[in-house]
Amino acid sequence: MARRPVTPVHEADPADEGDQIDLTPLAEIIGQKRPPASDLIPILQRVQSRYGYLPEPVIEEIARLTGIPASRIYGVVTFYAQFSTVPSGRHKVCVCQGTACHVRGGDEVLRAVRKDLSIAPGETTPDLDFTLDTVACLGACSFAPVMTVDGQYFGKMKGSRVGPILDESRSGSRGEGTA
Ligand code: FES
Repeated sequence: MARRPVTPVHEADPADEGDQIDLTPLAEIIGQKRPPASDLIPILQRVQSRYGYLPEPVIEEIARLTGIPASRIYGVVTFYAQFSTVPSGRHKVCVCQGTACHVRGGDEVLRAVRKDLSIAPGETTPDLDFTLDTVACLGACSFAPVMTVDGQYFGKMKGSRVGPILDESRSGSRGEGTA
């Protein structure tokens, strides 16, 4: 699946980032022998699983260890939605903007989330607590408008419910779903 553009909220200096990231696990993840280029996607999956995302110094080191040009690796990373060059938040918030949700107040829900987190869709809060995204349908139209937090559904949403739901994530006190 092709990814849509993502806007990072904090742009790190790649030089500084390289100083902070331990690149030594990459040799073990990639292995002794140079892998074929067809192994690139599984390699990127393993590396992202280790680091949580694929920052520039990591991509450059993958290129050095595999012999695959960095430009090609960037091409794969930016094409597939499963890969990210920026860190994701600990909590993933997704607000449905599909037709059923739109006509029942999905815009109000998204506005409330944006206001609470002070970020736009595709962004992560500076404290790495939340990443916000929108989607065209969450498959629960009869509960519209719908949002999810870490995969948990919240249906028949109102803007006024957003703050308490996000506060539960902040405090880690959430119980069962309410969709
Ligand atoms: S349109 Fe929102 S859940 Fe289907």
